Amino acid sequence: MPLFDVYPLYDVTPVRAKGVYVYGHDRKKYLDLYGGHAVISIGHQNPVYNRRLKRQISKIGFYSNAIQNPLQQQLADEIETQSGCKDYQLFMCSSGAEANENALKLASFHTGKSKIVAFKNAFHGRTSAAVAATDTPKIIAPLNAQQEVIFLEFGDEDALADTLAKEDVCAVIVEAIQGVGGLDMPTKSFMKSIETLCKKHKSCFIADEVQSGFGRSGKFFAFQHYDVTPDIIAMAKGMGNGFPVGGIFVHPNIEPWYGMLGTTFGGNHLACQASLAVLEVLKKKSLVEHAAALGAAFEARAKSIQGVTKIKGRGLMLGLEFDFEVGELRKKLIYEHQIFTGGSSNKKLLRILPPLTVQQKHFDRFFNALEQLL
Ligand SMILES: Cc1ncc(COP(=O)(O)O)c(C=O)c1O
Repeated sequence: MPLFDVYPLYDVTPVRAKGVYVYGHDRKKYLDLYGGHAVISIGHQNPVYNRRLKRQISKIGFYSNAIQNPLQQQLADEIETQSGCKDYQLFMCSSGAEANENALKLASFHTGKSKIVAFKNAFHGRTSAAVAATDTPKIIAPLNAQQEVIFLEFGDEDALADTLAKEDVCAVIVEAIQGVGGLDMPTKSFMKSIETLCKKHKSCFIADEVQSGFGRSGKFFAFQHYDVTPDIIAMAKGMGNGFPVGGIFVHPNIEPWYGMLGTTFGGNHLACQASLAVLEVLKKKSLVEHAAALGAAFEARAKSIQGVTKIKGRGLMLGLEFDFEVGELRKKLIYEHQIFTGGSSNKKLLRILPPLTVQQKHFDRFFNALEQLL
Protein backbone atom coordinates (compact mmCIF):
# COMPACT_ATOMS: atom_id res chain seq x y z
CA MET A 1 0.00 0.00 0.00
CA PRO A 2 1.44 3.45 -0.87
CA LEU A 3 1.72 6.12 1.76
CA PHE A 4 -0.65 9.06 1.35
CA ASP A 5 1.77 11.34 -0.42
CA VAL A 6 1.50 14.70 1.32
CA TYR A 7 5.14 15.39 2.21
CA PRO A 8 7.92 16.37 -0.20
CA LEU A 9 10.84 14.39 1.27
CA TYR A 10 14.59 14.87 1.40
CA ASP A 11 16.56 11.78 0.53
CA VAL A 12 17.87 11.13 4.06
CA THR A 13 16.87 8.20 6.29
CA PRO A 14 17.86 8.76 9.92
CA VAL A 15 18.53 5.55 11.83
CA ARG A 16 19.82 6.99 15.09
CA ALA A 17 20.59 10.32 16.71
CA LYS A 18 22.64 11.72 19.59
CA GLY A 19 22.79 15.26 20.97
CA VAL A 20 22.72 17.65 17.99
CA TYR A 21 23.54 14.95 15.43
CA VAL A 22 21.36 12.66 13.34
CA TYR A 23 22.95 9.61 11.67
CA GLY A 24 21.66 8.45 8.29
CA HIS A 25 21.51 4.92 6.91
CA ASP A 26 24.09 6.24 4.44
CA ARG A 27 26.45 6.37 7.49
CA LYS A 28 26.61 10.16 7.22
CA LYS A 29 26.47 12.35 10.32
CA TYR A 30 24.09 15.29 9.96
CA LEU A 31 24.20 18.42 12.12
CA ASP A 32 20.61 19.05 13.22
CA LEU A 33 19.92 22.80 13.09
CA TYR A 34 16.22 22.07 12.46
CA GLY A 35 15.37 20.06 15.59
CA GLY A 36 12.72 18.05 13.72
CA HIS A 37 10.83 21.34 13.32
CA ALA A 38 11.64 22.96 16.69
CA VAL A 39 10.71 19.81 18.58
CA ILE A 40 14.07 18.61 19.91
CA SER A 41 14.73 20.82 22.92
CA ILE A 42 17.18 18.92 25.17
CA GLY A 43 18.95 17.02 22.39
CA HIS A 44 18.48 13.59 20.86
CA GLN A 45 18.90 10.56 23.14
CA ASN A 46 19.31 12.65 26.28
CA PRO A 47 20.17 10.22 29.12
CA VAL A 48 17.74 11.82 31.61
CA TYR A 49 14.96 11.56 29.03
CA ASN A 50 15.74 7.96 28.16
CA ARG A 51 16.03 6.95 31.80
CA ARG A 52 12.71 8.52 32.79
CA LEU A 53 10.84 6.99 29.84
CA LYS A 54 12.38 3.53 30.28
CA ARG A 55 11.60 3.49 34.01
CA GLN A 56 8.04 4.63 33.41
CA ILE A 57 7.29 2.16 30.63
CA SER A 58 8.47 -0.68 32.85
CA LYS A 59 5.79 0.37 35.41
CA ILE A 60 2.79 1.79 33.51
CA GLY A 61 2.85 3.58 30.17
CA PHE A 62 -0.76 4.61 29.75
CA TYR A 63 -4.10 4.75 31.43
CA SER A 64 -7.04 7.02 30.65
CA ASN A 65 -7.87 10.34 32.31
CA ALA A 66 -10.50 8.58 34.42
CA ILE A 67 -7.92 7.76 37.11
CA GLN A 68 -5.48 9.67 39.34
CA ASN A 69 -2.17 10.46 37.65
CA PRO A 70 0.03 12.43 40.09
CA LEU A 71 2.62 12.96 37.32
CA GLN A 72 0.27 15.53 35.75
CA GLN A 73 0.25 17.59 38.96
CA GLN A 74 4.04 17.27 39.24
CA LEU A 75 4.36 18.52 35.68
CA ALA A 76 1.94 21.43 36.20
CA ASP A 77 3.89 22.53 39.30
CA GLU A 78 7.27 22.31 37.57
CA ILE A 79 6.16 24.27 34.49
CA GLU A 80 4.67 26.87 36.84
CA THR A 81 7.96 27.16 38.76
CA GLN A 82 10.20 27.33 35.72
CA SER A 83 7.98 29.64 33.66
CA GLY A 84 6.95 31.90 36.55
CA CYS A 85 3.34 31.78 35.24
CA LYS A 86 1.53 31.57 38.55
CA ASP A 87 -1.90 30.15 39.35
CA TYR A 88 -2.80 28.91 35.87
CA GLN A 89 -4.47 25.49 35.42
CA LEU A 90 -2.99 22.85 33.11
CA PHE A 91 -4.96 20.81 30.57
CA MET A 92 -2.90 18.28 28.62
CA CYS A 93 -3.26 17.01 25.06
CA SER A 94 -0.93 15.52 22.44
CA SER A 95 -0.06 18.10 19.76
CA GLY A 96 0.20 21.77 18.94
CA ALA A 97 -2.95 21.91 16.83
CA GLU A 98 -4.87 20.17 19.58
CA ALA A 99 -3.56 22.69 22.14
CA ASN A 100 -4.79 25.60 20.01
CA GLU A 101 -8.06 23.83 19.18
CA ASN A 102 -8.75 23.42 22.90
CA ALA A 103 -7.67 26.99 23.61
CA LEU A 104 -10.09 28.38 21.01
CA LYS A 105 -12.92 26.11 22.12
CA LEU A 106 -12.39 27.12 25.72
CA ALA A 107 -12.39 30.81 24.78
CA SER A 108 -15.72 30.28 23.03
CA PHE A 109 -17.23 28.43 26.00
CA HIS A 110 -15.96 31.07 28.42
CA THR A 111 -17.14 34.14 26.49
CA GLY A 112 -20.22 32.67 24.80
CA LYS A 113 -18.94 34.21 21.52
CA SER A 114 -17.65 32.58 18.33
CA LYS A 115 -15.49 34.88 16.18
CA ILE A 116 -11.71 34.58 16.23
CA VAL A 117 -9.11 37.24 15.46
CA ALA A 118 -5.86 35.93 13.98
CA PHE A 119 -3.04 37.65 12.10
CA LYS A 120 -1.52 37.72 8.66
CA ASN A 121 1.02 34.90 8.19
CA ALA A 122 -0.14 33.10 11.35
CA PHE A 123 0.18 29.33 11.65
CA HIS A 124 -1.79 27.56 14.40
CA GLY A 125 -2.15 23.96 13.17
CA ARG A 126 -4.30 21.82 10.93
CA THR A 127 -7.41 20.93 12.96
CA SER A 128 -10.78 22.63 12.61
CA ALA A 129 -10.57 26.04 14.32
CA ALA A 130 -6.75 26.03 14.44
CA VAL A 131 -6.46 25.70 10.67
CA ALA A 132 -9.20 28.25 10.10
CA ALA A 133 -7.06 30.68 12.12
CA THR A 134 -4.04 29.84 9.95
CA ASP A 135 -3.29 32.28 7.15
CA THR A 136 -2.70 29.68 4.41
CA PRO A 137 -5.89 29.40 2.32
CA LYS A 138 -4.53 26.32 0.51
CA ILE A 139 -4.79 24.15 3.65
CA ILE A 140 -8.26 25.33 4.71
CA ALA A 141 -10.92 22.86 3.51
CA PRO A 142 -14.52 24.07 2.89
CA LEU A 143 -15.48 22.41 6.18
CA ASN A 144 -12.94 24.49 8.14
CA ALA A 145 -13.91 27.67 6.29
CA GLN A 146 -17.19 27.73 8.21
CA GLN A 147 -15.34 29.11 11.23
CA GLU A 148 -15.60 32.88 11.55
CA VAL A 149 -12.03 34.14 11.54
CA ILE A 150 -10.98 37.75 10.97
CA PHE A 151 -7.37 38.11 9.78
CA LEU A 152 -5.75 41.42 10.66
CA GLU A 153 -2.37 42.87 9.75
CA PHE A 154 0.20 41.81 12.35
CA GLY A 155 0.60 45.08 14.26
CA ASP A 156 -2.53 47.00 13.23
CA GLU A 157 -3.77 48.33 16.58
CA ASP A 158 -6.57 50.43 15.10
CA ALA A 159 -8.07 47.49 13.19
CA LEU A 160 -7.82 45.36 16.33
CA ALA A 161 -9.63 48.01 18.39
CA ASP A 162 -12.39 48.40 15.77
CA THR A 163 -12.87 44.63 15.44
CA LEU A 164 -13.02 43.90 19.17
CA ALA A 165 -15.38 46.83 19.74
CA LYS A 166 -18.08 44.78 17.98
CA GLU A 167 -18.08 42.57 21.11
CA ASP A 168 -18.46 39.31 19.18
CA VAL A 169 -14.88 37.98 19.31
CA CYS A 170 -14.15 35.07 21.64
CA ALA A 171 -10.37 35.03 21.15
CA VAL A 172 -7.36 36.82 19.75
CA ILE A 173 -4.69 34.23 18.98
CA VAL A 174 -1.10 35.32 18.44
CA GLU A 175 2.44 33.95 18.13
CA ALA A 176 4.94 36.15 19.99
CA ILE A 177 7.38 35.07 17.28
CA GLN A 178 5.71 33.78 14.13
CA GLY A 179 7.15 30.36 13.29
CA VAL A 180 6.05 28.92 9.96
CA GLY A 181 5.08 32.45 8.80
CA GLY A 182 8.69 33.62 8.87
CA LEU A 183 9.80 34.83 12.32
CA ASP A 184 8.10 38.23 12.42
CA MET A 185 7.65 39.63 15.91
CA PRO A 186 5.01 42.01 17.24
CA THR A 187 5.93 45.30 18.91
CA LYS A 188 5.54 45.77 22.68
CA SER A 189 2.77 48.25 22.08
CA PHE A 190 0.85 45.78 19.89
CA MET A 191 1.08 42.97 22.46
CA LYS A 192 -0.05 45.39 25.18
CA SER A 193 -2.99 46.44 23.00
CA ILE A 194 -4.04 42.81 22.56
CA GLU A 195 -3.97 42.36 26.34
CA THR A 196 -5.85 45.60 27.10
CA LEU A 197 -8.44 45.29 24.35
CA CYS A 198 -9.17 41.63 25.18
CA LYS A 199 -9.83 42.63 28.79
CA LYS A 200 -11.99 45.58 27.80
CA HIS A 201 -14.14 43.60 25.35
CA LYS A 202 -14.23 40.27 27.22
CA SER A 203 -12.28 38.28 24.63
CA CYS A 204 -9.59 35.74 25.49
CA PHE A 205 -5.95 36.51 24.73
CA ILE A 206 -4.38 33.25 23.50
CA ALA A 207 -0.58 33.03 23.24
CA ASP A 208 0.41 30.29 20.81
CA GLU A 209 3.71 29.10 22.30
CA VAL A 210 3.64 25.76 20.49
CA GLN A 211 6.89 26.51 18.71
CA SER A 212 8.41 29.30 20.80
CA GLY A 213 7.72 27.85 24.26
CA PHE A 214 9.89 25.82 26.61
CA GLY A 215 12.89 28.13 26.35
CA ARG A 216 13.41 28.37 22.60
CA SER A 217 13.13 32.18 22.47
CA GLY A 218 15.57 32.74 25.36
CA LYS A 219 12.73 33.09 27.89
CA PHE A 220 10.50 30.23 29.01
CA PHE A 221 7.65 31.61 26.86
CA ALA A 222 8.19 34.13 24.06
CA PHE A 223 5.32 36.39 25.24
CA GLN A 224 7.43 37.01 28.37
CA HIS A 225 9.60 39.35 26.29
CA TYR A 226 6.53 41.64 26.32
CA ASP A 227 5.32 41.90 29.94
CA VAL A 228 1.78 40.69 29.18
CA THR A 229 -0.48 38.07 30.78
CA PRO A 230 -2.40 35.88 28.34
CA ASP A 231 -5.64 34.15 29.32
CA ILE A 232 -4.57 30.90 27.66
CA ILE A 233 -1.08 29.69 26.73
CA ALA A 234 -0.77 26.85 24.19
CA MET A 235 2.36 24.67 24.22
CA ALA A 236 3.70 21.50 22.53
CA LYS A 237 6.83 20.73 20.39
CA GLY A 238 9.80 21.29 22.76
CA MET A 239 7.62 20.28 25.71
CA GLY A 240 8.22 16.59 24.94
CA ASN A 241 11.51 16.52 22.98
CA GLY A 242 9.85 14.27 20.41
CA PHE A 243 7.23 12.55 22.56
CA PRO A 244 3.78 13.76 21.37
CA VAL A 245 2.72 16.05 24.20
CA GLY A 246 0.92 19.37 24.27
CA GLY A 247 -1.07 21.43 26.70
CA ILE A 248 -2.73 24.69 27.60
CA PHE A 249 -2.27 26.87 30.64
CA VAL A 250 -5.66 28.32 31.56
CA HIS A 251 -5.97 31.54 33.58
CA PRO A 252 -7.71 31.17 36.98
CA ASN A 253 -10.53 33.45 35.74
CA ILE A 254 -11.68 30.63 33.46
CA GLU A 255 -13.52 27.97 35.38
CA PRO A 256 -13.70 24.34 34.29
CA TRP A 257 -16.69 22.03 34.41
CA TYR A 258 -16.70 18.28 33.99
CA GLY A 259 -16.66 17.32 30.32
CA MET A 260 -15.75 20.82 29.09
CA LEU A 261 -12.55 19.47 27.49
CA GLY A 262 -11.25 15.93 27.21
CA THR A 263 -8.81 13.57 25.53
CA THR A 264 -7.89 9.90 25.52
CA PHE A 265 -4.11 10.15 25.17
CA GLY A 266 -3.30 13.60 26.58
CA GLY A 267 -1.36 13.64 29.84
CA ASN A 268 -0.56 9.93 29.89
CA HIS A 269 2.25 8.66 32.10
CA LEU A 270 4.87 8.54 29.35
CA ALA A 271 3.95 12.00 28.05
CA CYS A 272 4.32 13.44 31.56
CA GLN A 273 7.71 11.78 32.06
CA ALA A 274 8.97 13.05 28.70
CA SER A 275 8.05 16.58 29.67
CA LEU A 276 9.40 16.25 33.22
CA ALA A 277 12.70 15.10 31.67
CA VAL A 278 12.74 18.18 29.44
CA LEU A 279 12.18 20.43 32.47
CA GLU A 280 14.84 18.62 34.52
CA VAL A 281 17.44 19.14 31.79
CA LEU A 282 16.38 22.72 30.98
CA LYS A 283 17.00 23.60 34.63
CA LYS A 284 20.17 21.55 35.19
CA LYS A 285 21.88 22.90 32.09
CA SER A 286 20.38 26.42 32.22
CA LEU A 287 19.27 25.93 28.63
CA VAL A 288 16.89 28.88 28.54
CA GLU A 289 19.74 31.26 29.38
CA HIS A 290 21.99 29.35 26.98
CA ALA A 291 19.44 29.84 24.18
CA ALA A 292 19.42 33.60 24.80
CA ALA A 293 23.22 33.89 24.84
CA LEU A 294 23.86 31.70 21.84
CA GLY A 295 21.14 33.40 19.81
CA ALA A 296 22.83 36.76 20.39
CA ALA A 297 26.21 35.32 19.27
CA PHE A 298 24.56 33.84 16.15
CA GLU A 299 23.13 37.21 15.22
CA ALA A 300 26.49 38.93 15.60
CA ARG A 301 28.24 36.39 13.33
CA ALA A 302 25.41 36.33 10.77
CA LYS A 303 25.92 40.02 10.00
CA SER A 304 29.04 39.20 7.98
CA ILE A 305 27.32 36.67 5.66
CA GLN A 306 27.00 37.71 2.05
CA GLY A 307 23.44 38.03 0.72
CA VAL A 308 21.77 38.19 4.16
CA THR A 309 19.23 41.01 4.16
CA LYS A 310 17.67 40.39 7.58
CA ILE A 311 18.45 38.41 10.73
CA LYS A 312 15.16 37.41 12.34
CA GLY A 313 13.86 35.82 15.53
CA ARG A 314 15.45 35.53 18.95
CA GLY A 315 17.08 32.91 21.16
CA LEU A 316 17.33 29.67 19.18
CA MET A 317 14.33 30.44 17.00
CA LEU A 318 16.28 32.20 14.29
CA GLY A 319 16.18 32.98 10.61
CA LEU A 320 18.39 34.42 7.91
CA GLU A 321 16.58 36.20 5.12
CA PHE A 322 18.53 36.29 1.84
CA ASP A 323 18.09 38.26 -1.36
CA PHE A 324 17.22 34.98 -3.16
CA GLU A 325 15.01 31.90 -2.55
CA VAL A 326 16.78 29.40 -0.30
CA GLY A 327 15.39 26.03 -1.49
CA GLU A 328 18.59 25.13 -3.38
CA LEU A 329 20.80 26.38 -0.57
CA ARG A 330 19.00 24.13 1.93
CA LYS A 331 19.53 21.14 -0.36
CA LYS A 332 23.23 21.91 -0.69
CA LEU A 333 23.55 22.30 3.07
CA ILE A 334 22.08 18.81 3.51
CA TYR A 335 23.70 16.92 0.65
CA GLU A 336 27.09 18.65 0.50
CA HIS A 337 27.63 19.68 4.12
CA GLN A 338 25.29 17.38 6.09
CA ILE A 339 23.47 20.22 7.85
CA PHE A 340 19.68 20.26 8.37
CA THR A 341 18.00 23.68 8.37
CA GLY A 342 14.35 24.78 8.12
CA GLY A 343 12.28 26.73 5.61
CA SER A 344 9.15 28.85 6.02
CA SER A 345 6.33 30.31 3.98
CA ASN A 346 8.77 33.16 3.24
CA LYS A 347 10.82 31.40 0.53
CA LYS A 348 13.85 33.62 1.12
CA LEU A 349 14.14 32.67 4.79
CA LEU A 350 16.43 29.94 6.13
CA ARG A 351 15.31 28.89 9.58
CA ILE A 352 17.54 27.70 12.42
CA LEU A 353 15.72 25.72 15.15
CA PRO A 354 18.40 23.53 16.75
CA PRO A 355 18.25 21.53 19.97
CA LEU A 356 18.81 24.04 22.81
CA THR A 357 22.01 22.14 23.64
CA VAL A 358 23.69 23.41 20.43
CA GLN A 359 27.14 24.99 20.92
CA GLN A 360 29.07 27.78 19.23
CA LYS A 361 31.26 25.25 17.39
CA HIS A 362 28.18 23.89 15.63
CA PHE A 363 27.23 27.36 14.45
CA ASP A 364 30.84 27.88 13.29
CA ARG A 365 30.49 24.79 11.11
CA PHE A 366 27.21 26.15 9.71
CA PHE A 367 28.65 29.58 8.93
CA ASN A 368 31.75 28.05 7.29
CA ALA A 369 29.49 25.90 5.11
CA LEU A 370 27.37 28.95 4.21
CA GLU A 371 30.46 30.95 3.28
CA GLN A 372 31.68 28.17 1.00
CA LEU A 373 28.30 27.79 -0.69
CA LEU A 374 27.79 31.49 -1.20
C1 LIG B 1 3.01 28.19 16.27
C2 LIG B 1 2.48 26.84 15.94
N1 LIG B 1 1.26 26.49 16.39
C3 LIG B 1 0.74 25.26 16.14
C4 LIG B 1 1.43 24.32 15.40
C5 LIG B 1 0.82 22.97 15.14
O1 LIG B 1 1.48 22.01 15.89
P1 LIG B 1 1.31 20.44 15.54
O2 LIG B 1 1.98 20.23 14.24
O3 LIG B 1 1.97 19.75 16.70
O4 LIG B 1 -0.15 20.18 15.48
C6 LIG B 1 2.70 24.65 14.90
C7 LIG B 1 3.46 23.67 14.10
O5 LIG B 1 4.41 23.98 13.41
C8 LIG B 1 3.24 25.93 15.18
O6 LIG B 1 4.43 26.30 14.72
